[in-house]
Amino acid sequence: MKVLILNGSPRPNGDTAYVLEALRSRFPRGTEFEALNAYEENIQPCNDCRYCWTNEGCSIRDKMDILWKDDYEVLVLASPLYMSFVTPPLFSIISRLNAIWSNSFFLKAPNRQKPKKGILILIGGGDGSADPAISIAKTAFHFLNVHFDPDLDYIRSLSTNNIPVQDDPDLAGQIDRAIKHIIRSKS
Ligand SMILES: Cc1cc2nc3c(=O)[nH]c(=O)nc-3n(C[C@H](O)[C@H](O)[C@H](O)COP(=O)(O)O)c2cc1C
Repeated sequence: MKVLILNGSPRPNGDTAYVLEALRSRFPRGTEFEALNAYEENIQPCNDCRYCWTNEGCSIRDKMDILWKDDYEVLVLASPLYMSFVTPPLFSIISRLNAIWSNSFFLKAPNRQKPKKGILILIGGGDGSADPAISIAKTAFHFLNVHFDPDLDYIRSLSTNNIPVQDDPDLAGQIDRAIKHIIRSKS
């Protein structure tokens, strides 16, 4: 099983990184991981060049290939909340998925993304709603043909200003539930 991690946090030792490490350690031995850090890879946002209106795929060549090659079984989308949304570099990556929508709408090309499972990790200081971030994550999962069950696959720690993520009493249970769901549906 290969797990692709899309990490939207700029802080290598921050709260999202802590939760990602806790999650990684719970996957079975032998699980392969690939990580794409949105702040490190500087993936360009969609610029509406409209290449994908008449051609399959995207005109911009960069580390989006990690997503386009579609060689993973589980996608972990992780971000701190910024203004209730995912961070801007992570949104740049998500905006590029619009090529899949355009290929389908303008070229009537089938979505060739293979079915996958998803886990969403959102981390917040405690200010405002996470709904905008959940909504864009669901859009990304939809384009990538990722099955995501918000009741089982959503891990969050949304009060880091008051409760350090390491002390969040709900975190371990959420990680457990998500891992069990992913492993169960793989066997
Ligand atoms: C620009 C900016 C905007 C933020 N907006 C929110 C927000 O809307 N809601 C929230 O709960 N926390 C917000 N936060 C707090 C972060 O989500 C929080 O500190 C988080 O734990 C950081 O995670 P990290 O260490 O993985 O980067 C914001 C932080 C920054 C820097």
